[in-house]
Amino acid sequence: MSDANSDDDWPPQIERRDFLFVSTGMMAAVGTAVAVWPFIDAMNPSADVQALATTEVDLEPIAAGQRITVIWRSQPVFIERRTPEQVAQAKADDDSPDLIDPATDASRVKSEEWLVVVGVCTHLGCVPLGQREGDERGEWGGWFCPCHGSHYDTSGRIRRGPAPRNLVVPPYELRDDGTVLIG
Ligand code: FES
Repeated sequence: MSDANSDDDWPPQIERRDFLFVSTGMMAAVGTAVAVWPFIDAMNPSADVQALATTEVDLEPIAAGQRITVIWRSQPVFIERRTPEQVAQAKADDDSPDLIDPATDASRVKSEEWLVVVGVCTHLGCVPLGQREGDERGEWGGWFCPCHGSHYDTSGRIRRGPAPRNLVVPPYELRDDGTVLIG
């Protein structure tokens, strides 16, 4: 169990055991074509780099209320299958005056039950707590960044603390086969 005030955990680090990888994979379909491509385009990222810039995750094993962390472009991405209660709480707060970076919950998700956000605090870049069982989740039940005390809600919106913006929603696509493609 993490203790936000424990010196042993300071500063928060991403550890291997923090991650539950659920069938993550890099899209490598274009890799072969890239290998024989005779020209170097110095102005644009090569196709293999673009390929590594996507992460595919099988959502099917994730239970309601479960959170997982995957890596996309070397950053943690939090994926949560939200419960109806968490969704209702997020929507009820859409017009709350304490939203520091006002946004509706609907504007931050593609499907109500799935929240996908970059797990990097928008203050100074710590990884907020809330992914592991027993973590402090902050006053709004989302994520808590102990570095300087930022509280995020169940939509990943900043509600209190020095962080100026909501957790970033990365580009992603929910696909019919039950996977999400991030990037
Ligand atoms: S880095 Fe998160 S509150 Fe400062």
